[in-house]
Amino acid sequence: MPTDISTIGVLGGGVMGSGIAQALAVAGLKVTLRDLNDELVEKARSTVVDGRYGLKRGVERGKTTQEQADQALANLSFTTKLEDLASVDLIIEAVPEDLELKKKVFAEVDRIVNPEAVFASNTSGLAISDLNKAVSDARRPQLIGMHWFSPAPVMKLVELVHAPETAEETIQSLEALCQNADKVSIRVKDAPGAYGFVANRIYFAAVREAQKVLQEGIASPEDINKAMVYGFNWPVGPLAMVAGATKGWQ
Ligand SMILES: NC(=O)c1ccc[n+]([C@@H]2O[C@H](COP(=O)([O-])OP(=O)(O)OC[C@H]3O[C@@H](n4cnc5c(N)ncnc54)[C@H](O)[C@@H]3O)[C@@H](O)[C@H]2O)c1
Repeated sequence: MPTDISTIGVLGGGVMGSGIAQALAVAGLKVTLRDLNDELVEKARSTVVDGRYGLKRGVERGKTTQEQADQALANLSFTTKLEDLASVDLIIEAVPEDLELKKKVFAEVDRIVNPEAVFASNTSGLAISDLNKAVSDARRPQLIGMHWFSPAPVMKLVELVHAPETAEETIQSLEALCQNADKVSIRVKDAPGAYGFVANRIYFAAVREAQKVLQEGIASPEDINKAMVYGFNWPVGPLAMVAGATKGWQ
């Protein structure tokens, strides 16, 4: 099992997959992003290049230099073919939040991808010990949750979710990767039945309360967002956060 990860395959180029691929390419990793057809792959590429948190805006905001952005783009390749991911050190799965779909995808890549590769799921809350059932016994110690936050190029936190079967070496190799990519990782024990790991369980509680305040007619959606932005220094309000996480950041 590689402790030093340098090549990565990302499955799914939606809101999260495109951002994760970008963040890792900026950090100097070679990333191949796979989605289902040319149109989806093109959409992922344009999110990386022209999106609100994409490379161009990063240069305009002074977050990266033009040279770093060019290098990041050179580190990225886009494909519809699963076979193009066969020799990577790490697979990060970011397909929609559907247990059966994720299991199908992991079973498929398990047959094709380098037996040494680590498999990580960006699931928001599905049990890692359920996803584990989709792969061979030999791969199980190398399967882990790697939960990023949106927008992935900006947000620092990554939750590393370990099932009882996950090897310590797997956790450590992703801790090293997060550090290289200037992300902050925390260790989270897989807790089947409790959806949302650590940060989202706390965040969902705040969103539930914001929606209740709205339903009770206490304040407008705009003012509920303002309350948390100006009262607690949240970067966006709880209702705006839900919109960004589901529809993407325009
Ligand atoms: N949106 C968020 O804020 C957020 C944050 C953290 C984690 N997540 C998790 O990340 C995962 C992805 O969420 P998202 O918001 O990016 O979804 P999304 O719908 O924006 O993107 C999913 C992408 O996966 C592609 N896809 C479907 N099947 C595929 C396959 N077999 N191979 C390759 N690509 C495939 C789809 O075409 C789509 O482009 C989910 O598990 C979600 O719970 C989401």
